[in-house]
Amino acid sequence: MYQIIDGKKISQEIKDELKLQVEQMKAEGVEKCLAVIQVGNDPASSVYVGNKKKACAYVGVKSLSYELPEDTTEEELLTLVMELNARADVDGILVQLPLPKHINEEKVLLAIDPNKDVDGFHPVSVGNLSIGRPGYVSCTPAGVIQLLKRSGIEIEGKECVVLGRSNIVGKPMSMLLLRENGTVTTCHSRTVNLREVTKRADILVVAIGKPKFLDESYVKEGAVVIDVGIHRDENNKLCGDVDFEKVAPHCSAITPVPGGVGPMTIAMLMNNCVNGVK
Ligand code: GUN
Repeated sequence: MYQIIDGKKISQEIKDELKLQVEQMKAEGVEKCLAVIQVGNDPASSVYVGNKKKACAYVGVKSLSYELPEDTTEEELLTLVMELNARADVDGILVQLPLPKHINEEKVLLAIDPNKDVDGFHPVSVGNLSIGRPGYVSCTPAGVIQLLKRSGIEIEGKECVVLGRSNIVGKPMSMLLLRENGTVTTCHSRTVNLREVTKRADILVVAIGKPKFLDESYVKEGAVVIDVGIHRDENNKLCGDVDFEKVAPHCSAITPVPGGVGPMTIAMLMNNCVNGVK
């Protein structure tokens, strides 16, 4: 029988711990504040941003909301980021992605003060992670580490395979597993004999953005499988990068979609807001 890793429950635990911590901080006169910027009204982004603000309210982090029109210029956005960088009462700045096409995303992310980069997307944050210095860590991969640790799954010495090499998930995921003393292999679209590699994995993290891509032929018996994907299948039902029905019976533990990695991202964002650079 396999263990279902309950991301909803674990993320709730983390938010409750943070809520207590925030109450203590407030008693000592410290308040944390996150500025959330959304440009345009992409429906998915609006849902994410709404959930982030809700989580702030739950944990007790103050949130400042900037909902800017679609035709906001790059210059206007950069000016706002600079203002927020300079404000002592703002601890974190989050610019929701994607940005409209006329705005250079990289330029905007680079403008965020790395000390306020709660998303962990700034090259300074990524660099700090890669050389083991304190810095903000990208929320989704940080959430995966918490899922593993809080489910009693040891990483040290294990064969860890990450499927996907995006800047937001795959690369930081590999670096975090390495920091936890895993033996890490990163696979991607050009990997030859992919199954040979993934079948070595004790811990397999799948973040390739293809619905139900992974079936049991990629998985070693008894592996832990973490599914970072989220899609709608042909019946409009949420599904991940992993074909759960086929893969789960071969695992010792697996995350479901929804209710696995998804809820962890916001919990870790709240952790970044409350605990700062670590
Ligand atoms: N768009 C989708 N996911 C994210 C995220 O984690 N952070 C930001 N800023 N934008 C996103």
